[in-house]
Amino acid sequence: MDYQPLLHKIRKEIEIYAHDGKQADYIPALANVNPDQFGLCLDLLDGRTYRLGDSDVKFSIQSIAKVFSLAIALSILGKDLWKRIGKEPSGSAFNSLVQLEYEHGKPRNPFINAGALVTADVLLSHLENPKEFFIEFVRTIAGNPDIHYSEATMQSELSCCYLNASIAYLLKHHGNLHNDVDDVLRLYSTMCSVEMSCEDLAHAFMAFAKSNEPFSHAGVNLTVSRVKRINAIMQTCGFYDEAGEFAFLVGLPGKSGVGGGIVALYPSRYSIAVWSPRLNSKGNSIMGMKALEMFTSETEESIF
Ligand code: DON
Repeated sequence: MDYQPLLHKIRKEIEIYAHDGKQADYIPALANVNPDQFGLCLDLLDGRTYRLGDSDVKFSIQSIAKVFSLAIALSILGKDLWKRIGKEPSGSAFNSLVQLEYEHGKPRNPFINAGALVTADVLLSHLENPKEFFIEFVRTIAGNPDIHYSEATMQSELSCCYLNASIAYLLKHHGNLHNDVDDVLRLYSTMCSVEMSCEDLAHAFMAFAKSNEPFSHAGVNLTVSRVKRINAIMQTCGFYDEAGEFAFLVGLPGKSGVGGGIVALYPSRYSIAVWSPRLNSKGNSIMGMKALEMFTSETEESIF
């Protein structure tokens, strides 16, 4: 099937949502992004790639980074990671503190901020140069050496990360952060401030779609079993308190970020990345969700 006409049709039909929502502004650097951009990239298992709009424009991946840090932390600690982080959906906002208090400092899953602070802590404890390791890992999995983090976005997040700092101190209180809180916050924000395009993200997430060809880099091995686990967590926890809605509308495992990016995949078939900065109240891209819903509805290609 030639997907290009369908992608153009989707772009036309979602235009009615083009001015709904607004870009994230609780991180000042993200408020400066032009909200009226839209990109999409579809990578198929047979090697074909389809692009639409601003597919090559780099943007802040934000929480999508949590998938990469989970892959690394899981390779480092194996099953022991689950002693420190759960694997249940939270049903709460990504930066909620509530469950963490009554669940005694064990984050519900690796994709809420609390869980990702713990994976950042694992990287800090076990890697000599965690920041460099992370960026090199992302470059390799995306097949693009020209991927960097934004110092300005990282500093901007650090300048007002009061909620994340509260989460980190609560984790520390419960003995679930082994490194200095400021170091953990800095690494976490650096990972979130990595900039990638839809093309980079679709290529990177092929590693989670192609479980028959395990990806391996510097000791990080995405075995068939690990890919299965990570995809399951993307399905159940990738969209926070909108995970059920995403499963219902789109029907694919995926991950969003407040930069407006969403990546989703169909195991053994394709990976697809969309980006549009205007978000809904749950922090997920409005046009991105609509485009993916239309894509899986029109192609009848969802995992359900
Ligand atoms: O910690 C934060 O709040 C951001 N760096 C990441 C949040 C995020 O992307 C949530 N995803 N939709």
